[in-house]
Order: sequence, then C-alpha cells, then structure tokens
Amino acid sequence: MSHSTDSRPFFLDCDTGIDDALALVYLLGAGTNLVGIGSVSGNTSAAQGASNTQALLALAGRTDIPVAVGGHDPLEGSYHGGTTHVHGHNGIGDVQLPEITGTPEAMSAAELLVTMARKYPGELRVIAIGPLTNIAAALRLEPNLPALIAELTIMGGAAIAPGNITAVAEANIHGDPLAAAEVFAANWEIVLVPLDVTMHHVLEEDDRLRLLASEHPALSAVGDMLGYYFDFYIGVFGRPCSAMHDPLAAAIAIGRVEALSAPYARVIVDATDGPGRGQTICDMRGLYKGYPKPAGATCRVVLIAQECAMDEIMHSTLALATNISA
Ligand code: RIB
Ligand code: CA
Repeated sequence: MSHSTDSRPFFLDCDTGIDDALALVYLLGAGTNLVGIGSVSGNTSAAQGASNTQALLALAGRTDIPVAVGGHDPLEGSYHGGTTHVHGHNGIGDVQLPEITGTPEAMSAAELLVTMARKYPGELRVIAIGPLTNIAAALRLEPNLPALIAELTIMGGAAIAPGNITAVAEANIHGDPLAAAEVFAANWEIVLVPLDVTMHHVLEEDDRLRLLASEHPALSAVGDMLGYYFDFYIGVFGRPCSAMHDPLAAAIAIGRVEALSAPYARVIVDATDGPGRGQTICDMRGLYKGYPKPAGATCRVVLIAQECAMDEIMHSTLALATNISA
C-alpha cells in the first residue's frame, strides 16, 4: 500500500485504454487517495474498461478501490466501438491480464460519483480522462453536484491546437459531445488539459523499457501495453513514443505538475452534427492582453505544463514498485 500525506479524495473516470492505465498506476504510485473509479466507453467499452481497471488494481493489490461501470452509449446515439488501431481490441494493447475475481459495483459510475461527492461534500476532486458521459449523467442525477466537487480536471479538447479525431475535435470530447456540452455549461471549477499541452509531453522508449523491466506486475504490464500505443505514435511523431495525455492530466490534478500557463477562458462544445462536432470552442481572445479572467469563467485551459512532467510521472509510477509513495 502506498503511503502519502495527501489525503484529499479523488474520483477517476476513465476509458482504460493504455494511457489511462499508465495514469492509474501513476496515481497509485503517487499515493493518491482514490475513493472510486468509473469506466466509460471510449478507447474500449465501459464494461471492458472496467475489467481492465479491475485487473490492474488487482495486480497493484488495490482491489479495495470500488470500480463502477458507466455509460456504454453516449447521451445520444450509439457507442462507436473503440479505437482498436490505437489501444488494441481489448483497450490495453491486447495484453492479457490475469482474470479478475472481483465484480464491479452494482451501481453505475454516475451513481458512484454522486455517492462519493455526497460522502466528501466540497472536497471530492474528479479526474476525467475519457468521454464525459458519466460526468454529465451524474450532473443530471444530482444537479447540485458542482457544489459538492472541489475541482474537475478533464483531459480533453483542443484550444488552439488541432484535434486528433477530426481537424477540430479531440477523442474524449468527440466521444460524447452532448455530455461535454452539459459538463462545460455547469458552474464548477474545471481544469481542462487539452491536446495543446498533452502532445508536448511524450514518453520515450527508454522509459517504456524501464516499466517493462519492472519487477512489479502492474508496471511491466503497462510497459507491455505501451508498445502497442508506441506503434501508433510512430505515425504521429516518426519514432516509437507516445503523448502522455491522461498521466499528464492526473499529475496536474493532484498538484505534482504545475500548469505554467492556464488562463481562464469560456469554453463551449459544438454538439451539432456539422463539421465542428466535438470541438471545444475556447475563447482565447485574451491572448493579446495577458488573458484577463472573463467574468463568470470557471474553466482554466492548460497551455503549458512544467517540463519535468515526464520525470514526475515516471518517478511516481516506479515508486509503486518500491511500495512507497513518491
Ligand atoms: O485524445 C486523447 C484521449 O483519448 C486520452 O484520454 C486517450 O486515452 C483517449 O481516451
Ligand atoms: Ca482516456
């Protein structure tokens, strides 16, 4: 069990996926007080993502953390079926993890999120690293949710950078634009960690090999999964590596990596069926006057994060193997 001085309660909502898997073992290595995990369809189905998450938790000796299965389909329409060319058929690079013995919670991910928000009113922090279906469903379930949540960190979107699903849409937002539109329209403190910053924090092959060589089964499994992810990113960066979307969002959420530029901006999501579907329309017109905080804006858009982010992610992730928090 990792020991950490940070007792703040965190809820993780994920579509475990390969970078989600690294974000999870990073949070465990950092000794984060994870009080619940929800799965959502994105990289793989919500059911498969929950199974992947539970299998990793079992390898890390953390089956004490409740996992609930979330929305299979987006708020409107049907699940697109996953991104097998990026995350494999099972969501984790087709790596086979030991069969899980435990079952997910009977309640849904949205219900688990609301339950934990009511248990830790005003304290719970949420890290959302998949489509926002469960977050929106929780809002519909408990309209007072924003008052119960201290901060919502979202990996998703693109402010000035191009998208990765379409020219303007990033995968998590594109996975459920209506849910994202409802989440960004609610009145809570959001930290958006978009492609503008995550594409500049890359895990290299030598770091992947350090994970692969780890004695800890969860770390070596993630190192194996990353091999699949690296193959995809050869087409993006021209070398075996991968952007650390979800781990970077997690590191910023727990305060281990500082956002050096994170101006407040109004963000709306295009949920129409036009060419802009899934776009996070971030009003960055403050660029030319030092980004003054727009009246009523509650979303900070992270544009620059500390260069040392990857060192922190590796350091805390590897700390899982020494069973102490970093
Ligand atoms: O666009 C990157 C995001 O989409 C990451 O969360 C990745 O896991 C996928 O879900
Ligand atoms: Ca993800």
